[in-house]
Amino acid sequence: MRTSPIGVAVIGAGMAGRSHAYAYRAATTVFDDRLPAVRLVAIADTNQQFAADAAHRYGFARAETSWQALAAADDIDAVSVVVANSLHREIVEGLLAAGKHVLCEKPLAGDLADAEAMVDAAARSDLVNAVGYTFRRSPAVSAIREQIRPGSLGKPLHFNGHYWCDYGCDPRAPISWRYRGGPGSGALGDIGSHLIDVAEYLCGPIEAVSGGTLRTVVPERPVPLAAALGHARVEVSDQTQPVDNEDIATFTATFATGAVGSFSVSRVAFGLPNSLGFELFGETGAATFDLARPAEFLFCDGAPSSVTQGYRHVLVGPQHPYIDRGLPMAFPGVGHGNTEFFTYQARAFLEQVAGLEGLPPCPTFADGLHTMRLIQAIADSAAANGQRVSVTSTEQRRESRLTAGVAV
Ligand SMILES: NC(=O)c1ccc[n+]([C@@H]2O[C@H](COP(=O)([O-])OP(=O)(O)OC[C@H]3O[C@@H](n4cnc5c(N)ncnc54)[C@H](O)[C@@H]3O)[C@@H](O)[C@H]2O)c1
Repeated sequence: MRTSPIGVAVIGAGMAGRSHAYAYRAATTVFDDRLPAVRLVAIADTNQQFAADAAHRYGFARAETSWQALAAADDIDAVSVVVANSLHREIVEGLLAAGKHVLCEKPLAGDLADAEAMVDAAARSDLVNAVGYTFRRSPAVSAIREQIRPGSLGKPLHFNGHYWCDYGCDPRAPISWRYRGGPGSGALGDIGSHLIDVAEYLCGPIEAVSGGTLRTVVPERPVPLAAALGHARVEVSDQTQPVDNEDIATFTATFATGAVGSFSVSRVAFGLPNSLGFELFGETGAATFDLARPAEFLFCDGAPSSVTQGYRHVLVGPQHPYIDRGLPMAFPGVGHGNTEFFTYQARAFLEQVAGLEGLPPCPTFADGLHTMRLIQAIADSAAANGQRVSVTSTEQRRESRLTAGVAV
């Protein structure tokens, strides 16, 4: 078990990079005091102003303009990679080669070949490799998961989930890295990857997908005239560039257990900035989660007597996962949200770096690769008029590429 301080850094000072920076700052304030001291060493962003601003706000000692500066630094042990997906592979491989533990944002990479290479690179090291599926850190989602057992929800039969956002609704919203890449790298990779992870966290692995439909609604977008954080609006030019990937994705899925899933993902869902939600129907109960009310969930089972049976509105509190000592005021009805999910994720990652047992460990690059395979399967299904595609078919494709000696 490690007792010496852990030096942490974040690459990317955008919307999500700031969430990681905040989370490292908060990680020692929650749960027990076994975590070694966490030194907030550096934030790197090619935009110097963003790096300096984030380092200052979150109390990091240095601002850098290249990830290589972090890789070369002796005082950094663990790094979050929080930049555009197509940049993940080069940076992660460089960090692993430099001996850093890595927490990489989702989706794991810009494409399947990059994700496969990242898993291989991680397998060659004994460093922690983690992927940023923050919604499985939701106390409500975790509480629902605990009820998937006989006598409560029972075996899952049907997961019906959506992740609807409106950041792409306005055709004048500027082009960015989010609109570039092949089929599956749009709304499906950006937000659908979270929904897929939540579904599998609750129902186990998905085996096959069908009915894949990908649709681009806004085919081109204006070029921004200034750097933007996340979905922030900036002035745009009259010039436009093509959108490469989907605004909307829908599909159905079959889980290995035989449960079925129906999924709907959109970045052009008018009026819904960040709406992740699901209904889960089990053999003997049902549960509903809505991110707009993250500290609550609805639950229904055979109790009490039939005349008052129905969905109960449950306020998350210390009797549920994460809340006891996970909030300064750990009391039902106090409320919590996205920022805490990042804090619990950072805490779990640092516990793994320190060799401590505590929170559920982070999903690995291999888990991130599995999602990428699913995304490829959904894109393949869409290209084949909704045909059923198994996840193993995307694994076999790699095997045949390797057998043919094609570099991946
Ligand atoms: N887990 C979540 O809830 C969540 C939420 C949003 C985004 N994300 C993920 O986080 C990643 C970043 O998304 P975002 O919304 O923060 O993007 P963003 O566009 O807001 O920020 C990206 C930042 O990276 C910087 N950058 C670009 N190239 C760089 C380089 N070579 N080295 C260092 N910095 C560089 C940019 O200047 C920008 O500040 C993506 O993988 C995204 O999918 C995760």
